[in-house]
Amino acid sequence: MKDLTYSKDDEFLLVTISYDGEAYPGQFFMVKTPVGPYAPRPFSAYDLKKGELIFLIKTGGELERFLKNSHKVLINGPFGNPMPILNHPLLLAGGAGYAPIHFYAKRYDFSEMVVGARNESFFELVDVPNRSVITLEPTTVLDVAKLSPLKNVIACGPMPMMRKTAKIFKDRNLYLVMEEKMGCGRGMCEGCAIMTKSGVKFVCKDGPTFLASEVDLEWT
Ligand SMILES: Cc1cc2nc3c(=O)[nH]c(=O)nc-3n(C[C@H](O)[C@H](O)[C@H](O)COP(=O)(O)OP(=O)(O)OC[C@H]3O[C@@H](n4cnc5c(N)ncnc54)[C@H](O)[C@@H]3O)c2cc1C
Ligand code: FES
Repeated sequence: MKDLTYSKDDEFLLVTISYDGEAYPGQFFMVKTPVGPYAPRPFSAYDLKKGELIFLIKTGGELERFLKNSHKVLINGPFGNPMPILNHPLLLAGGAGYAPIHFYAKRYDFSEMVVGARNESFFELVDVPNRSVITLEPTTVLDVAKLSPLKNVIACGPMPMMRKTAKIFKDRNLYLVMEEKMGCGRGMCEGCAIMTKSGVKFVCKDGPTFLASEVDLEWT
């Protein structure tokens, strides 16, 4: 059980806990508080530095209700495969999808990054590296990113953004960090199935990062 501290804007929490293990960009942890929710929720590592593990959590959900009343969390992980390390990638993130993209940009080189949010306060909560463009609704990440000629792309965001990204960048080497409801986080409950060209795969153990051209984004 870990003590937690958090800072927040209207829509997101940054939750910091002490952690002396390792984790790589793209990996996630199963998180719950001692009193709930019954099923832990998966969260990508947003950052890991000097013994502190940080999550970026969208507010308004079940886990957050418990977090508000608890100063402790239970974490299990890391789970899932690290993101591939690409040459000069374009990084795209929408909302909570910024968590794994931020961690990637902290650890590895990238050429450009575009991060989108609904509110300006998001960018007061999170840090955004140089060489990044930020967008605020109604401008979207893709309004800006579609102009980029970069060949390698990694994206994480809400499903409508992922679908559009896959269409716009269909001729690129595009990877998507996928999200699905999870029970176990380690390939045992079959809760996080997605359909791919090679049949059913599980986001927790086969992903969460997949080559976009492999995934059927209309299946779920
Ligand atoms: C690999 C991965 C990484 C993620 N990283 C982040 C991140 O960095 N930041 C972030 O904000 N979100 C992240 N998510 C999404 C996150 O796990 C939650 O889905 C999201 O925070 C909403 O949680 P919630 O409890 O508010 O609502 P939901 O999880 O959407 O729950 C909605 C309803 O479904 C039910 N439910 C949800 N999950 C289960 C379950 N496993 N079993 C039974 N019932 C369930 C709940 O009881 C509730 O009634 C990630 C998801 C995945 C798969
Ligand atoms: S969460 Fe149980 S199989 Fe993926």
